[in-house]
Amino acid sequence: MVLPHYAFFKGRIIPYAEARVGVLTHGLNYGTGVFSGIRGYWNDDEQELFVFRPEDHYRRFLESARMIGMQLPLDQSQLTAALADLLRREGYREDCYVRSLAFYADETVGVRLHDLTPEISIVAMPYGRYIDKEEGAHATISSWRRVDDNAIPARGKIVGAYVNSALAKSEAMRAGFDEAIVLNRDGHISEGSAANFFLVRNGVVLTPPITDNILEGITRRTVIELLAREMGLTVVERSIDRSEIYVAEEALFVGTGVQIVAVTRVDHRPIGTGRIGPIASALRTLYFDVVRGRRPEYRNWCMPVYAPAAAPGTDLFSGYRSRRATAGMAK
Ligand SMILES: Cc1ncc(COP(=O)(O)O)c(C=O)c1O
Repeated sequence: MVLPHYAFFKGRIIPYAEARVGVLTHGLNYGTGVFSGIRGYWNDDEQELFVFRPEDHYRRFLESARMIGMQLPLDQSQLTAALADLLRREGYREDCYVRSLAFYADETVGVRLHDLTPEISIVAMPYGRYIDKEEGAHATISSWRRVDDNAIPARGKIVGAYVNSALAKSEAMRAGFDEAIVLNRDGHISEGSAANFFLVRNGVVLTPPITDNILEGITRRTVIELLAREMGLTVVERSIDRSEIYVAEEALFVGTGVQIVAVTRVDHRPIGTGRIGPIASALRTLYFDVVRGRRPEYRNWCMPVYAPAAAPGTDLFSGYRSRRATAGMAK
């Protein structure tokens, strides 16, 4: 992976190599942090980089922080502005991935979520596919169960919970599969290791409800809207049994990282024909047009990075830095 040149860190953009933390950092030791992954898509015709639904991602980022009792000093508009500043500094003219992280930065010992100080970092780097076989992935039902809302809230992107995702992903890949399908405590399908799940049965699209220990995905919301509005399909949010996979016509993973992946085999059994189906195929075409800003009706989801550049020299975060200083946070 190509490393970024810069990082938004402690309220300003600095060289990536200088954005460092100590080994005692609370978030590193106990997973006390939240994060977000956002994609930027290069549109060659318009010579523009479009960031997909940044404010929605940052809204969930702030909600995830609230789930662990973390109060952040920036709102979603300020985070989006920081991200746009960073991308302009990087100057990417290709698809990229933005990783934002809020973590407890105190270098201290003691498991807790109170009396700690959050810090925010944002970095961006060029990025391609997360799953190689987007047009035909082979998944397995994981032996790991999805974290439960009463253990670590699954609906938020909480750093520590990703050990659960990593266990499922590595188990699947080491066994020769591309991805895992993770069941929740009740035995219903929750999602992939880092993607939401959809199934087509008798022409109806099914996806687990947000109360089945899924991450409340932005791509999931996007796909629900596109399937219904643009493709005229009925989408039902309901619990899905494992055996429904074996009689489905199509199955899909969706997420910022995986984008739209057709799951064509599960545990060596073909799904439908065993090849990418018409819904996954049409949805992939539509989705990539939407995220690249090629569908005017959905342009409000796409933030152009270069067109409306903020006035040069504008420092949007001096207030943040002075609040940190006042609170004794500056290090
Ligand atoms: C566990 C998990 N589920 C689902 C998703 C998809 O969420 P989104 O579409 O917001 O990226 C992700 C993130 O990519 C994830 O980490």
